[in-house]
Amino acid sequence: MSEEDPRKQYWNDSYYRYWKSRVDEAGVGSSKVIEGDANTEGDEIYREFFERFGFNPGSVLEVGCAWGRMFPLYLEHGLRLSAVDISAAMVDAARESWLGHERIDSISESSAESLPFGDGTFDNLACIATFDATFQNRALREFLRVTRPGARIFFTGKHDHYHDDDTAALDAEAGARRKNHPNYFTDTLYMLALLKAQGHRVDALLCFPRRGDFAKADFVTGSPERFYEYLVVLTRGEACEFFPEFSRAHSRTFLAASSNE
Ligand SMILES: C[S@@+](CC[C@H](N)C(=O)[O-])C[C@H]1O[C@@H](n2cnc3c(N)ncnc32)[C@H](O)[C@@H]1O
Repeated sequence: MSEEDPRKQYWNDSYYRYWKSRVDEAGVGSSKVIEGDANTEGDEIYREFFERFGFNPGSVLEVGCAWGRMFPLYLEHGLRLSAVDISAAMVDAARESWLGHERIDSISESSAESLPFGDGTFDNLACIATFDATFQNRALREFLRVTRPGARIFFTGKHDHYHDDDTAALDAEAGARRKNHPNYFTDTLYMLALLKAQGHRVDALLCFPRRGDFAKADFVTGSPERFYEYLVVLTRGEACEFFPEFSRAHSRTFLAASSNE
């Protein structure tokens, strides 16, 4: 994506300060940044998931790295790290703290849909709390393109069909819409079927039923019809083809609630 990508204006200094305060309050009860909302998840949750599913030895690319709050988790696995974020403010902050570390190869301003790396570069890829802001079918194809067959891929997103009475999720979706926050919801089971049809292995689908459950590591497995967020863990197969659209700008739950008003 070129420098002129209009989405860059959204991911600015004020978003950086907002996300920093959301992360700072992770794990301390309910949100003070958004009155009444659930907290976002802290880094510790990911330490647990990364331990549980593991990385391949070698390299990892983090897509949507912000200021690098997850970097210690990759480095403690002995990995070499490259990272990208669409936001100049985020990349500046990550570079200020991390550039020069012996196992950090690059921190680049770039979008998930157009990654500045050759085919098959990475042994692992992680995209945390970011996939829902991307053009997902293009981003997912890029994740596969820049990783090698056998690569481990972790990504999180929001499912397009959550519970009708998850008012925190409905409020968050309405709030995001008012702010023009880039926000996409995944038809998760369709996406996984497309991945499997290309020969990729789905190692895990963790489904967090309601907004706030991710922060509590409260998940179910299987293929429930309704849930709010997900973590997908993949092992990349050989293929790397384009995907049809599997995400939408409004969840089915939000659309149904709006039509009942
Ligand atoms: C909610 S923050 C999560 C950041 C980090 N992964 C974390 O968990 O702290 C979303 C991040 O995604 C970045 N982002 C949004 N859209 C992106 C895109 N299309 N490509 C790359 N990064 C993107 C934003 O600038 C922001 O840093």
